[in-house]
Amino acid sequence: MMDIDPRKYGIRRNLSSVNNILIILSSKGGVGKTFISTSLALALRELNYSSALLDLDFTNPGCHLFLNYRPKGLDITEEKGIVPPEIFGIKFLSIISFIGERPLPLRGTDITNLFIELLAIARWGGAEYLIIDTPPGIRDEILNILTYIDNPKIILVTTPSILSITSSRMIIELLRGKYRILGIIGNMLVENGERLIKNLSTDMNIKYLGGIKHYSQLDNYLYNGEFPKVFDKYIKNDVMDIVREIVTSL
Ligand SMILES: Nc1ncnc2c1ncn2[C@@H]1O[C@H](COP(=O)(O)OP(=O)(O)O)[C@@H](O)[C@H]1O
Ligand SMILES: [Mg+2]
Repeated sequence: MMDIDPRKYGIRRNLSSVNNILIILSSKGGVGKTFISTSLALALRELNYSSALLDLDFTNPGCHLFLNYRPKGLDITEEKGIVPPEIFGIKFLSIISFIGERPLPLRGTDITNLFIELLAIARWGGAEYLIIDTPPGIRDEILNILTYIDNPKIILVTTPSILSITSSRMIIELLRGKYRILGIIGNMLVENGERLIKNLSTDMNIKYLGGIKHYSQLDNYLYNGEFPKVFDKYIKNDVMDIVREIVTSL
């Protein structure tokens, strides 16, 4: 059947200037999607790509905390749509730029409408990479991405926990064959955790993009607003290999 939803065309037109849209996904919460989304956007910027970051977690937005960015009021420029502010050289858009750190209890169609509105008005100005951070679960936000965004490239995140690995296995089963999964990133690696994730990637025939160790001080750095500084000092090195792997697999 022909697809005649006009809203798709608005989003398509608006995203046509973006070269690659990378969706950071895990159906389990707390595995490090927000940490990795922000880190990938920063690392791509370091490699001189024009990089953009969209936080699509409307309930628990978190990328701004990693960027240590707390806008006082409405922080967007209007110019035939909205132009996201640049934070550490990244074009950054989050629900917090509109409403601050306030709860946004939305359901079903309201989430879809907000998603469509944001994607239809954001001007990414020809970003080479747009990283999209997503909430956990396979609910409206994720289903909207898969419905309204053409050719999304999915990057999965897992920790070595059996809870996360089992959840990843299920989401791979759901998505494989229908969408392009670039690979899986292991996060919070300790001891031989990486082996478990490599086994998963072999079993499921999904590329292992690399791993990031557990940083015992990460939440302290975050609390003190030091993440961007620490990123340059320690984390960047760990993330760069993963970014190169992603860039070459596109
Ligand atoms: N590699 C890591 N080492 C230590 N702590 C981490 C690491 N990755 C994430 N965290 C912490 O784990 C928690 C969950 O991370 P977050 O990125 O919010 O996960 P998600 O977005 O998947 O829910 C946060 O407190 C974050 O600072
Ligand atoms: Mg998150």
